[in-house]
Amino acid sequence: MCGIVGYIGKKTACPILINGLTALEYRGYDSAGIASIENKKICVMKDKGRVSNLNNIEGIDNLRGTIGIAHTRWATHGKPSKENSHPHMDNSETFAVVHNGIIENYTELRKFLSDNGYKFLSQTDTEVIPNLIHYYFTKDTSSDENKFLKSVKQATTDLKGSFAIEVLSNLYPDKMITVRKDSPLVIGKGSTGYHIASDIPALLEYTRDFYLLDDYEFAVMENDSIKFYNSDLIEHNKEIKNIEWAASAAEKNGYEDYMLKEIFEQPTAIRETIGSRLKLGEKCDFSDLDISKEYLSSINKIFIVACGTAMHAGLTGKKFLENLCNIPVEVDIASEFRYRNPIINEKTLCIFISQSGETADTIAALKLSKSKGAKTLAVSNVIGSSITREADYTIYTHAGPEIAVASTKAYTSQIVLLGILSVYFAEILESSDSKVLENLKKDILELPKKIEASLNTKNEVKNFAQKVFDEKDVFFIGRGSDYNVALEGSLKLKEISYIHSEAYASGELKHGPIALIENGITVISILTDETLVEKSISNIQEVITRGAKTFIVTNQNILNSNFDAIVKIEETNPLLSPILSVIPLQLLAYYITKEKGLDVDKPRNLAKSVTVE
Ligand code: M6R
Repeated sequence: MCGIVGYIGKKTACPILINGLTALEYRGYDSAGIASIENKKICVMKDKGRVSNLNNIEGIDNLRGTIGIAHTRWATHGKPSKENSHPHMDNSETFAVVHNGIIENYTELRKFLSDNGYKFLSQTDTEVIPNLIHYYFTKDTSSDENKFLKSVKQATTDLKGSFAIEVLSNLYPDKMITVRKDSPLVIGKGSTGYHIASDIPALLEYTRDFYLLDDYEFAVMENDSIKFYNSDLIEHNKEIKNIEWAASAAEKNGYEDYMLKEIFEQPTAIRETIGSRLKLGEKCDFSDLDISKEYLSSINKIFIVACGTAMHAGLTGKKFLENLCNIPVEVDIASEFRYRNPIINEKTLCIFISQSGETADTIAALKLSKSKGAKTLAVSNVIGSSITREADYTIYTHAGPEIAVASTKAYTSQIVLLGILSVYFAEILESSDSKVLENLKKDILELPKKIEASLNTKNEVKNFAQKVFDEKDVFFIGRGSDYNVALEGSLKLKEISYIHSEAYASGELKHGPIALIENGITVISILTDETLVEKSISNIQEVITRGAKTFIVTNQNILNSNFDAIVKIEETNPLLSPILSVIPLQLLAYYITKEKGLDVDKPRNLAKSVTVE
């Protein structure tokens, strides 16, 4: 939530900052602003609305400073408005700050600062930060050369909650300070200077060499130097990491939208995620995990914890692990898990799935599990993301940057990775027949080709989308794995098209929801489990009888003409079917949203990475 960008170097900062904000806009897009230093004065330009509005601000083209900070906002405290937009300054306009996160004790800090004569111009939690820095700066009467850094440190010590901040001061016109706690921040070393951003894809255009800041680690950039300090302000060296993503990976590459590009990237994303981990006739390779047979044998319970789409991937992960490893698995929503006192001990393995690796609830759930003695395993798509730094073990999907708010290729890659991990565990535990495992491996390796067939349903899906795009309510139904896919299909549709949709296990319809089915209501069914097909078809007939329009995604040969549309996908191992059946649903959500003329990549009220509770 919220994106922050910074630049200090040889070039004019403003265009670089606006470019960075545009790349980060998927993190929040209700207001934007930048601050740069010119002639020892901080110039702030900001307004509500999208990043592109910044170009309309008078004088923005004349900003020539080579140092600057910028922000695109997802409003938490205070409505989207010019006053609430970042950057925020202290009363004396000596310090400017952009912030991503939430300051939980801001009311208390505001009172403290008000009692000390400070005035507030916005409703934001952020505005306390520059004023606190100013408070500590003026209290320090020394001429210590590190006074700026010390004041930032003192201010951040008072903050409760999460933050990634960048600070400028007109007293130090060549210096920028950044620090983070539980909110993402990376620093890229470019050819003309240092680039700061909330995440890596926004900077791929400039560099692939990154410093990944730790919690309470301060970076001080001045001209062409960078220094790192720990929370006691002791200077240390920091390793630079080379990130392999190609610069073009974060571009649309000819597609109209990122979401469509990412849907069509799924064969590649799956191939990359399989990588060299899985080969026919060989044991799976997770040697980087260093999990012993002794430890695996001691596990008597697995939790899979995540949010949104990642949690839906976890539901399929549960099926893999229970089927192949014979270990009971519970899947939970991170925001529930963290507050429900789950029963966890050293015999529990907790798996956390997060595309971004920055989801606040998932990270908190991980920390809780660790504190209760469990081992933790992170599944993430972003190298060095917060979750991977907290977990005992990490495995990566290699889906490439996912930019659209609606998650697509990350979901299918997460399922594939959980599948391979389950095969790996089963091989160590000898909990499944080796022939079963070998056949499953073969099916996993065939997935990229079969995904192409699912993508080829695009015209049929588009036709159906044109018929139903102005619906108010849509239902998704399925049994077993198909129910898990129904949940994901429904989430996809509601988040980008704003159509109200619900997912139900088909067998539940008669226990209430069928009361809502009437003439013209659309019911989308996923039918891939041959053992349950007949039962599911009976459920579909029941909704047709009540006037529903039906759209079926199936790998079965269904001889029935009273469905409005049947989309055929390839057969595969039932454990893997969600990877193929979800694709027509991703396309359906996409085409319905396009028909409605909405912004597919940046749906209202949402942000790509939910870094606050
Ligand atoms: O980055 P994460 O995987 O932790 O994100 C979790 C959810 O916020 C995310 O999947 C969200 O539900 C997507 N917008 C769904 O398309």
